[in-house]
Amino acid sequence: MSETQQIDFTMMYVTHDALRRDVQRLAAAIATGRAGSSSVQAGWANFKAQLHVHHTVEDDDLWPRLYRAIGDDPGRLAMLQEMEDEHAVLDPLLEALDAALAGGDDAVLARRVDELAGVLDGHLKHEESSALPLIQEVLEPADWRGFGAAMRRKQGLKGAAMYVPWIVDGASAETRARFFSALPGPLRIVNQLVFEPRYRRLGLWAA
Ligand SMILES: [Fe+2]
Repeated sequence: MSETQQIDFTMMYVTHDALRRDVQRLAAAIATGRAGSSSVQAGWANFKAQLHVHHTVEDDDLWPRLYRAIGDDPGRLAMLQEMEDEHAVLDPLLEALDAALAGGDDAVLARRVDELAGVLDGHLKHEESSALPLIQEVLEPADWRGFGAAMRRKQGLKGAAMYVPWIVDGASAETRARFFSALPGPLRIVNQLVFEPRYRRLGLWAA
Protein backbone atom coordinates (compact mmCIF):
# COMPACT_ATOMS: atom_id res chain seq x y z
CA MET A 1 0.00 0.00 0.00
CA SER A 2 1.32 3.47 -0.79
CA GLU A 3 2.02 6.10 1.87
CA THR A 4 -0.91 8.16 0.61
CA GLN A 5 -3.36 5.33 1.22
CA GLN A 6 -3.06 4.86 4.95
CA ILE A 7 -6.08 3.39 6.68
CA ASP A 8 -7.49 5.54 9.49
CA PHE A 9 -8.19 3.36 12.54
CA THR A 10 -10.02 6.04 14.53
CA MET A 11 -13.29 4.10 14.66
CA MET A 12 -11.54 0.99 15.93
CA TYR A 13 -9.63 2.79 18.67
CA VAL A 14 -12.59 4.81 19.95
CA THR A 15 -14.73 1.65 20.04
CA HIS A 16 -12.08 -0.29 21.95
CA ASP A 17 -11.72 2.58 24.43
CA ALA A 18 -15.51 2.72 24.96
CA LEU A 19 -15.54 -1.02 25.67
CA ARG A 20 -12.70 -0.65 28.20
CA ARG A 21 -14.47 2.34 29.78
CA ASP A 22 -17.67 0.36 30.32
CA VAL A 23 -15.88 -2.53 32.04
CA GLN A 24 -14.26 0.02 34.36
CA ARG A 25 -17.70 1.49 35.04
CA LEU A 26 -19.02 -1.95 35.89
CA ALA A 27 -16.03 -2.55 38.19
CA ALA A 28 -16.69 0.80 39.91
CA ALA A 29 -20.38 -0.05 40.30
CA ILE A 30 -19.51 -3.43 41.84
CA ALA A 31 -16.94 -1.83 44.18
CA THR A 32 -19.59 0.61 45.45
CA GLY A 33 -22.37 -1.99 45.80
CA ARG A 34 -24.43 -0.66 42.88
CA ALA A 35 -24.24 -3.72 40.61
CA GLY A 36 -27.94 -4.53 41.08
CA SER A 37 -29.23 -1.09 40.09
CA SER A 38 -31.32 -0.79 36.94
CA SER A 39 -28.98 1.85 35.47
CA VAL A 40 -25.96 -0.47 35.87
CA GLN A 41 -27.91 -3.41 34.45
CA ALA A 42 -28.88 -1.24 31.45
CA GLY A 43 -25.28 -0.12 30.99
CA TRP A 44 -24.10 -3.72 31.12
CA ALA A 45 -26.76 -4.84 28.61
CA ASN A 46 -25.67 -2.10 26.21
CA PHE A 47 -21.99 -3.04 26.67
CA LYS A 48 -22.75 -6.66 25.76
CA ALA A 49 -24.74 -5.55 22.69
CA GLN A 50 -21.92 -3.24 21.52
CA LEU A 51 -19.27 -5.92 22.06
CA HIS A 52 -21.38 -8.49 20.24
CA VAL A 53 -21.83 -6.27 17.17
CA HIS A 54 -18.15 -5.28 17.15
CA HIS A 55 -16.85 -8.84 17.33
CA THR A 56 -19.49 -10.34 15.03
CA VAL A 57 -18.65 -7.94 12.20
CA GLU A 58 -14.92 -8.44 12.75
CA ASP A 59 -15.45 -12.22 12.57
CA ASP A 60 -17.83 -12.10 9.60
CA ASP A 61 -16.27 -9.34 7.51
CA LEU A 62 -12.84 -8.13 8.67
CA TRP A 63 -10.98 -11.35 9.39
CA PRO A 64 -12.23 -12.94 6.13
CA ARG A 65 -10.81 -9.95 4.22
CA LEU A 66 -7.48 -10.55 5.98
CA TYR A 67 -7.57 -14.30 5.33
CA ARG A 68 -8.02 -13.57 1.62
CA ALA A 69 -5.12 -11.11 1.66
CA ILE A 70 -2.50 -13.12 3.57
CA GLY A 71 -2.56 -16.39 1.65
CA ASP A 72 -0.84 -19.24 3.50
CA ASP A 73 1.66 -17.29 5.63
CA PRO A 74 1.75 -19.47 8.80
CA GLY A 75 2.58 -16.68 11.26
CA ARG A 76 -0.19 -14.44 9.98
CA LEU A 77 -2.68 -17.31 9.88
CA ALA A 78 -1.84 -18.15 13.48
CA MET A 79 -2.35 -14.54 14.57
CA LEU A 80 -5.77 -14.40 12.90
CA GLN A 81 -6.74 -17.67 14.52
CA GLU A 82 -5.77 -16.10 17.86
CA MET A 83 -8.13 -13.18 17.16
CA GLU A 84 -11.01 -15.59 16.60
CA ASP A 85 -10.06 -17.70 19.63
CA GLU A 86 -9.87 -14.61 21.86
CA HIS A 87 -13.35 -13.53 20.75
CA ALA A 88 -14.66 -17.00 21.63
CA VAL A 89 -13.01 -16.91 25.07
CA LEU A 90 -14.89 -13.73 25.97
CA ASP A 91 -18.38 -15.25 25.58
CA PRO A 92 -18.18 -17.58 28.61
CA LEU A 93 -16.73 -14.71 30.67
CA LEU A 94 -19.79 -12.60 29.84
CA GLU A 95 -22.04 -15.49 30.80
CA ALA A 96 -20.15 -15.94 34.07
CA LEU A 97 -20.63 -12.26 34.82
CA ASP A 98 -24.34 -12.52 34.04
CA ALA A 99 -24.58 -15.42 36.47
CA ALA A 100 -22.65 -13.44 39.11
CA LEU A 101 -24.94 -10.43 38.62
CA ALA A 102 -27.95 -12.69 39.13
CA GLY A 103 -26.29 -14.21 42.22
CA GLY A 104 -25.57 -10.83 43.81
CA ASP A 105 -22.38 -11.84 45.66
CA ASP A 106 -20.07 -8.79 45.47
CA ALA A 107 -16.87 -10.82 46.06
CA VAL A 108 -17.71 -13.14 43.15
CA LEU A 109 -18.69 -10.16 41.02
CA ALA A 110 -15.38 -8.41 41.76
CA ARG A 111 -13.43 -11.50 40.67
CA ARG A 112 -15.49 -11.89 37.52
CA VAL A 113 -15.17 -8.27 36.45
CA ASP A 114 -11.40 -8.33 37.09
CA GLU A 115 -11.14 -11.41 34.92
CA LEU A 116 -13.22 -9.83 32.14
CA ALA A 117 -11.24 -6.57 32.30
CA GLY A 118 -7.93 -8.44 31.98
CA VAL A 119 -9.00 -10.73 29.15
CA LEU A 120 -10.79 -7.98 27.19
CA ASP A 121 -7.90 -5.53 27.53
CA GLY A 122 -5.42 -8.26 26.58
CA HIS A 123 -7.43 -9.07 23.47
CA LEU A 124 -7.89 -5.44 22.43
CA LYS A 125 -4.17 -4.71 22.91
CA HIS A 126 -3.27 -7.80 20.90
CA GLU A 127 -5.61 -6.68 18.11
CA GLU A 128 -4.17 -3.15 18.18
CA SER A 129 -0.55 -4.31 18.20
CA SER A 130 -0.82 -7.22 15.73
CA ALA A 131 -4.02 -7.17 13.65
CA LEU A 132 -4.17 -3.43 12.91
CA PRO A 133 -0.57 -3.23 11.59
CA LEU A 134 -1.30 -6.26 9.38
CA ILE A 135 -4.48 -4.59 8.12
CA GLN A 136 -2.47 -1.46 7.34
CA GLU A 137 0.04 -3.57 5.44
CA VAL A 138 -2.18 -5.88 3.39
CA LEU A 139 -5.64 -4.30 3.06
CA GLU A 140 -6.72 -1.29 1.05
CA PRO A 141 -8.74 1.72 2.27
CA ALA A 142 -11.61 0.28 0.19
CA ASP A 143 -11.53 -2.84 2.41
CA TRP A 144 -11.74 -0.68 5.51
CA ARG A 145 -14.67 1.24 4.03
CA GLY A 146 -16.31 -2.12 3.27
CA PHE A 147 -15.82 -3.21 6.87
CA GLY A 148 -17.32 0.10 8.05
CA ALA A 149 -20.31 -0.43 5.75
CA ALA A 150 -20.79 -3.97 7.13
CA MET A 151 -20.73 -2.49 10.64
CA ARG A 152 -23.38 0.09 9.71
CA ARG A 153 -25.56 -2.60 8.10
CA LYS A 154 -25.33 -4.71 11.24
CA GLN A 155 -26.12 -1.74 13.50
CA GLY A 156 -28.90 -0.22 11.44
CA LEU A 157 -30.32 3.18 12.39
CA LYS A 158 -31.41 1.91 15.80
CA GLY A 159 -27.90 0.66 16.49
CA ALA A 160 -26.29 3.91 15.33
CA ALA A 161 -28.63 5.85 17.62
CA MET A 162 -26.97 4.06 20.56
CA TYR A 163 -23.46 3.55 19.18
CA VAL A 164 -22.65 7.18 18.40
CA PRO A 165 -23.59 8.71 21.79
CA TRP A 166 -22.17 5.65 23.59
CA ILE A 167 -18.76 6.23 22.01
CA VAL A 168 -18.60 9.88 23.09
CA ASP A 169 -20.12 9.25 26.55
CA GLY A 170 -17.51 10.83 28.84
CA ALA A 171 -14.95 11.14 26.02
CA SER A 172 -12.47 14.01 25.95
CA ALA A 173 -13.08 16.92 23.60
CA GLU A 174 -10.14 15.67 21.52
CA THR A 175 -11.59 12.15 21.17
CA ARG A 176 -15.01 13.56 20.40
CA ALA A 177 -13.60 15.77 17.64
CA ARG A 178 -11.51 12.92 16.22
CA PHE A 179 -14.52 10.58 16.21
CA PHE A 180 -16.87 13.01 14.51
CA SER A 181 -14.25 13.95 11.92
CA ALA A 182 -14.29 10.28 10.84
CA LEU A 183 -18.10 10.28 10.41
CA PRO A 184 -20.35 11.87 7.78
CA GLY A 185 -21.00 15.51 8.83
CA PRO A 186 -24.79 15.26 9.28
CA LEU A 187 -24.36 12.49 11.85
CA ARG A 188 -22.82 14.97 14.28
CA ILE A 189 -25.94 17.15 14.06
CA VAL A 190 -28.33 14.18 14.30
CA ASN A 191 -26.39 12.98 17.33
CA GLN A 192 -26.56 16.39 18.99
CA LEU A 193 -30.28 16.87 18.33
CA VAL A 194 -31.66 13.34 18.62
CA PHE A 195 -29.30 10.50 19.57
CA GLU A 196 -27.44 12.07 22.50
CA PRO A 197 -30.46 13.57 24.33
CA ARG A 198 -32.22 10.22 24.07
CA TYR A 199 -29.10 8.33 25.21
CA ARG A 200 -28.69 10.65 28.22
CA ARG A 201 -32.27 10.02 29.28
CA LEU A 202 -31.46 6.31 29.54
CA GLY A 203 -28.99 7.15 32.33
CA LEU A 204 -26.72 4.15 31.67
CA TRP A 205 -24.39 3.45 34.64
CA ALA A 206 -25.82 6.43 36.57
CA ALA A 207 -25.29 6.39 40.35
FE1 LIG B 1 -11.78 -4.48 17.36
